[in-house]
Amino acid sequence: MFKFASLLAFVTLASSVAAQAPIYGQCGGQGWSGATACAAGSVCTYSNDYYSQCLPGAASSTTAPASTVSVPTSTASGTSSAPSSTSTAAAGNPFEGYEIFASPYYAAEVAAAAANITDSTLAGKAASVANIPTFTWFDQVAKVPTLGTYLANATALQTSSGSKQIVPIVVYDLPDRDCAASASNGEFSIADNGEANYKDYIDQLVAQIKQYPDVRVVAVIEPDSLANLVTNLSVEKCANAQTTYLACVNYAIEQLATVNVYMYLDAGHAGWLGWPANLSPAATLFTQVYQNAGSSPFVRGLATNVANYNALVAASPDPITQGNPNYDESLYINALAPVIHSAGFPAQFIVDQGRAGVQNIRAAWGDWCNVKGAGFGTQPTTDTGDSLIDAIVWVKPGGECDGTSNSSSPRYDPHCSLSDATIPAPEAGTWFQTYFETLVSAANPAL
Ligand SMILES: *[C@@H]1O[C@H](CO)[C@@H](O)[C@H](O)[C@H]1NC(C)=O
Ligand SMILES: *[C@@H]1O[C@H](CO)[C@@H](O)[C@H](O)[C@H]1NC(C)=O
Ligand SMILES: *[C@@H]1O[C@H](CO)[C@@H](O)[C@H](O)[C@H]1NC(C)=O
Ligand SMILES: *[C@@H]1O[C@H](CO)[C@@H](O)[C@H](O)[C@H]1NC(C)=O
Repeated sequence: MFKFASLLAFVTLASSVAAQAPIYGQCGGQGWSGATACAAGSVCTYSNDYYSQCLPGAASSTTAPASTVSVPTSTASGTSSAPSSTSTAAAGNPFEGYEIFASPYYAAEVAAAAANITDSTLAGKAASVANIPTFTWFDQVAKVPTLGTYLANATALQTSSGSKQIVPIVVYDLPDRDCAASASNGEFSIADNGEANYKDYIDQLVAQIKQYPDVRVVAVIEPDSLANLVTNLSVEKCANAQTTYLACVNYAIEQLATVNVYMYLDAGHAGWLGWPANLSPAATLFTQVYQNAGSSPFVRGLATNVANYNALVAASPDPITQGNPNYDESLYINALAPVIHSAGFPAQFIVDQGRAGVQNIRAAWGDWCNVKGAGFGTQPTTDTGDSLIDAIVWVKPGGECDGTSNSSSPRYDPHCSLSDATIPAPEAGTWFQTYFETLVSAANPAL
């Protein structure tokens, strides 16, 4: 329904003709004419045909990540064990008493973007975004080694500052990912060993997290996937993916629980599963997934509005929501909660408000691509005003492009050239400077 920026974007501030691309800089991809070598301490890592990037450390693989799998892919993975036998989830809100770790990756993107703004007032506001935590998306296996870097950074910060750190990540690499969209960005395909590759990806995440037991990790699990199984089984690719999605998500949950990761399953948004007819089927599916994974206490609940623009509490219904009484995320959550609780899943919620600062900007509720006029929204907090909602978070890193408006591009999606989309837009996942600047200047509350 909407595209996700891969994290692989980075400001091309380094397009100054350096022989070496800086850490996090672009180092390859179709049409790239800049440096292809990386600064010391980083390795040029293939992301997709449009983007390669210098990632810290010695990456475990630089090409064809799926072929470098070294962990056995059968269920006899060394890390597996019954979650409840090895660990106990803390009671209550996992964010309470913790500071959300701000990824150095996004901070570097933002710092570079701010340095490219001449208006000093705007530049100052832009720079302040570096301190606001966003989730880090693990949308390909080659990026998993960077998780260790972030966890090491968070552990060090926790020691030096005395503030407990919670590191927010997005698990996003299902085979045949994004099954209802016209173009899939995923690296794994079901037809080509996708389930085994996915399990290896999860094992690698688990192996990283296991090394840093002093910091807490919170994960949003697979944006769009379960929601697509609720409403989009009429799409052939989704129907074909159903069994695999469920097996993979089950594996992810069980394994991440063994290393104490607190999880929220992605639950679309008010304009998707919030329609009254969808609430009950959604509750049934999420409860089934939760119970199939042993009702793990590490599955804390559901994440809504990921990468979307809906208000938590809208001052008045946006006209595009007409016909749906659940016209904002608060109404959606409060409508879903009783249904899902009585089904047997005591779900709590987190809500993405990263780009929800400005309302009534869309021509249709389904419009998701670089929506014009969007501003950064309420900043991450556990002060949510609703006991069902653990935290307001920024899951989508604002400034990373949703998709290109170039209709000749193989990854073109028509949503990205609608009248309410910002044009011209670069490839999905790359930094979109003018869009970032609008998010900053239209931020509500102001930065
Ligand atoms: C600054 O941003 C503009 C607009 O995206 C871009 O054209 C320019 O190359 C950028 N400059 C630097 C130094 O990154
Ligand atoms: C993060 O950790 C890496 C590797 O341990 C280190 O090189 C880097 O300086 C750290 N960065 C920050 C911002 O702490
Ligand atoms: C997926 O489901 C949503 C919500 O019902 C719908 O708006 C959308 O058109 C569906 N996508 C496809 C490709 O059918
Ligand atoms: C649009 O995409 C095509 C195909 O990838 C490319 O050749 C062309 O240069 C792109 N145009 C712009 C303006 O980026």
